[in-house]
Amino acid sequence: MTEFRAPRHLLSIDDLGANGIREAMSLAEAFAEVERRVIPKVPALRGKVVATLFFEDSTRTRLSFESAAKRLSCDVLTFNAGTSSLKKGESLRDTVEVIEAMGADAVVIRHSCSGTPVQVSRWVSRARVINGGDGSHEHPTQALADCLTVRQVIAERQGVEPDSLGVECFNGLRVLIVGDIAHSRVARSQVLAYTTLGARVTLCAPGTLLPGNVESWPVGVAGDLDAAIKETDVVSLLRLQRERGSGTYVPSLREYTQGWGLTARRASLLKKETIITHPGPMVRGVEIASDVADMEQSVVKRQVTNGVAVRMAVLFLLLATSDARGGIQRG
Ligand code: CP
Repeated sequence: MTEFRAPRHLLSIDDLGANGIREAMSLAEAFAEVERRVIPKVPALRGKVVATLFFEDSTRTRLSFESAAKRLSCDVLTFNAGTSSLKKGESLRDTVEVIEAMGADAVVIRHSCSGTPVQVSRWVSRARVINGGDGSHEHPTQALADCLTVRQVIAERQGVEPDSLGVECFNGLRVLIVGDIAHSRVARSQVLAYTTLGARVTLCAPGTLLPGNVESWPVGVAGDLDAAIKETDVVSLLRLQRERGSGTYVPSLREYTQGWGLTARRASLLKKETIITHPGPMVRGVEIASDVADMEQSVVKRQVTNGVAVRMAVLFLLLATSDARGGIQRG
């Protein structure tokens, strides 16, 4: 593989490519070790300022970016849209410029409108922009956390260190993504990440919740979930994005669960090695049965834990000086 150069911004998984995903996962493993220390903090980004601008609700992404920034010794600016001067008519562009003028080195943005992080990246002069999830477009750091988690499970089964597997363990891995693909930014980033690493991705959803241009995606489409889940190594469940109107695309939640949910009956069809992932937030009893979410094969909590290490890795990739990089790589 060619040498990886960190992108200026992280707007899409495409900004990383296979080399960048490998580098981010390698750094994340180093930072996961930091997290296990008694004092889980390193001075790697001391003096840097990270601003979190969330215009949509979030638990995992906002908290994990803020936790990641603090563990790297950054200062954190938490922007709350509901109590900000946006309410007085200030524009998003002026808001971003104000935050950059206060010294933000990185801006993590979540917005309901696809493309907002790209737009913000054109307005900043110095700060790095990280996509924390934009509309139904992308959620790159979630896909990185998912890949990291899957690789850790594979490594544990083989009794090796995760990083020793590189990204070759994804080659030919069968990944089934089930649910509201049409409205899911996680699905788009997962498809990019997994297929970039050589995995074979299959989508399974009601026809109304498949993207209109799915033929142009590098994936297969399965019509029969019962058959598809018997043949997969990873099954990724997605929530119905009701805030994006998904409720109107299915007859009822009950019918959705019967047809497309990972119920206890369906989970019994999985191979015992199949890894169950869910980016959260889960709606227990709809896309995943509560008991299934807590099965040993489910790595949902681990995805959340890994979310902090992955976001440390992304902040480090975008903000660290070459001296700091050398320090981390030397361990
Ligand atoms: N997976 C995810 O983005 O969760 P939050 O909406 O809680 O950030």
